[in-house]
Amino acid sequence: MLFLDSSDPKEVKEIFSWGVVSGVTTNPLIISRELGDVDLEQCIREVCEVSWGHVSVELTTESEKEMLEEGLRYWEWNKERICIKVPFSEIGLKVLHQLVTRGASTNVTCMMSFNQAYLAALCGATYISIFSGRVRDMGYDVRPIVRETRAILDREGLASKIIVGSMRHLIDVNEALQDGAHIATVPPAILRKMLWNPRTDSTIREFNDAWKARSKKK
Ligand code: E4P
Repeated sequence: MLFLDSSDPKEVKEIFSWGVVSGVTTNPLIISRELGDVDLEQCIREVCEVSWGHVSVELTTESEKEMLEEGLRYWEWNKERICIKVPFSEIGLKVLHQLVTRGASTNVTCMMSFNQAYLAALCGATYISIFSGRVRDMGYDVRPIVRETRAILDREGLASKIIVGSMRHLIDVNEALQDGAHIATVPPAILRKMLWNPRTDSTIREFNDAWKARSKKK
């Protein structure tokens, strides 16, 4: 499946109208870049109105108490739709455990390795997010991480779904899905590239031009 990696309600509305995406992921960097100093609650409520599925909202605090309070506050905005995005760390796991115990949907984020993803899955995260572009920025191959994570989820019957994010190129999306990601979360610009093929455009042009130029035949 595909999720949309964006916080801009206009983009979310436009791309959900294609009928191909099943959820939304946001993070503090995306929101700051796309919308600046917005009212987070209002922004997320608008995103929920023009989309369906889970909308991931990331924690920005760093102590266990603050993170739990922040997550529970986001969850209150829409218990069915909000997925609390928990940055991976030892404290993050403790917070995750408490959110999972309360029945919240969760997305453990900023993960760069198989071992991190496995721990988040053992803790019961709804989604485990592996960051393709950032792993590659460090000079490592992300593909075995995705494949091995998927293999252990299947082998141990763990319910977490793998999201691969941090997409830089269209091929990152294709590889993530081929390697066993349940979901690729894709920014609008890369999703638009998935539409395009010059041979499709020229074929449609050829067909429609022929139709306009047709002559009556007996
Ligand atoms: C996914 O959930 C993340 O929000 C996102 O894909 C991170 O991407 P970046 O590495 O481009 O910041």
